[in-house]
Amino acid sequence: MQLEVIILAAGQGKRMQSALPKVLHSLAGRPLLEHVVSTALQLQPLAVHVVIGHGSEAVAQALSAYNVNWVIQEQQLGTGHGVLQAMPAVSPGSTVLVLYGDVPLIGRATLQALVSMAGSGPALLTATVEDPAGYGRILRDDAGALVAVVEHRDASDAQRNIREINTGVLAAPARDLREYLPRVGNDNTQGEYYLPDILSLAVAEGRTVGSCQAESELEVLGVNDQLQLQRLERECQHRQAVQLMRDGVALADASRIDVRGTLSCGTDVRIDVNVVFEGEVKLGNNVVIGPNCVLRDVTIGDGATIHAMSHLQEAQVGSGCSVGPYARLRPGTRLASGARVGNFVETKKADIGAGSKVNHLSYIGDCAMGPGVNIGAGTITCNYDGVNKHRTEIGADVFVGSNSTLVAPLSIAAGGFVAAGSTITKVVERDELAVSRARQRNIQGWQRPGKRPTED
Ligand code: UD1
Ligand code: CA
Repeated sequence: MQLEVIILAAGQGKRMQSALPKVLHSLAGRPLLEHVVSTALQLQPLAVHVVIGHGSEAVAQALSAYNVNWVIQEQQLGTGHGVLQAMPAVSPGSTVLVLYGDVPLIGRATLQALVSMAGSGPALLTATVEDPAGYGRILRDDAGALVAVVEHRDASDAQRNIREINTGVLAAPARDLREYLPRVGNDNTQGEYYLPDILSLAVAEGRTVGSCQAESELEVLGVNDQLQLQRLERECQHRQAVQLMRDGVALADASRIDVRGTLSCGTDVRIDVNVVFEGEVKLGNNVVIGPNCVLRDVTIGDGATIHAMSHLQEAQVGSGCSVGPYARLRPGTRLASGARVGNFVETKKADIGAGSKVNHLSYIGDCAMGPGVNIGAGTITCNYDGVNKHRTEIGADVFVGSNSTLVAPLSIAAGGFVAAGSTITKVVERDELAVSRARQRNIQGWQRPGKRPTED
């Protein structure tokens, strides 16, 4: 069977109360629509058509990495109208699956079951829910066959008691959609062209409409407001945490970890509370992440420890390194194995050599540092002259005393030694001592100033 997917994503999402198009709101670090598009692509369809309208440029831009066909629906005249806009691009022999940009957790297995029912006629994904308010209700005849979907606003009181609802997800042969969609009218309370009305048209011709139920209610939950988005986010995070634990990761608290992207872990990884992972994060074996850390697009080597309150972005941490507490590793930081970056240290575009230590209160930026270096507390690489950035090169086994300012461009060759409190502006050659500070004078018998008599 040849499959094509149409994803409806043209609505504004007024109830989000946000300038951002609804389908671009983020769930577990990815736009809602991206979840749906990637599930659709897993079905290996011939094509994915995404119907967009509100904020269409921003939506297409945000998902530009995906190979989908964008269809513009200028005016949102209803779900049936939306699907119709995509039909010219759909090949007549295909089976069409209709998904929604704001129903992000729909699962592949459920969709495969639905699609397999739709080879010879339309089939609908339904769900039986506790609170059906707002949804279209499924009407069945005495024999249990599906006869129609009635929208909440068009439903009678008796119909509103029905708890089997239309999830919106539907599959049908393209030729059925081509035949029935142009015949759907908009004579209803919302004046919209309703997609589910194709089902009653098929039934009127004596055809049967297939239906199946979603595996879990969660799969069919839509996002209409911030509250629903937050609920789905928590649910998504919970599922990811459960998966991590199944894979052997030790979480201090499954409800206090957020993965907004992908996290891969080696064996015996321990993660303390309130850690946020963003983008693509890779943790090696025996990695320990302390509480309240943020890691975005980083790789951490085997046996490294990231202590509490550290913030790492686009950084590579080698095996056995120690980072933090309170460290900030900015983009382009690379720590070779066994390096240590301690509290209140900020690094950027910095290569820190194996076993080198920057343990306290320093800024190291645009710097290449060899192995075995010791950087004293309060050392600053002065990399910016107000216009350009300059580099600092520090050779192996260099010792930089506390409170030194290293004015770049600068190089300190291997074995060089900088005395504490120095401002270094010139090259330090191999094994040299550089001191640049006023000599100390001691004045004996110094009289402290006395208090002046007050005038009034
Ligand atoms: C729809 C169904 C309802 C079902 C519910 C499930 C219809 C008429 N009703 O109602 O039976 O219970 O979903 O959540 O189908 N969209 C477009 N273009 C349009 C209209 C809508 O792209 O012209 C998109 C929206 O952006 C949204 C989706 O289609 O992603 C659903 O539209 P919405 O207006 O939210 O439909 P519901 O009233 O929720
Ligand atoms: Ca909706």
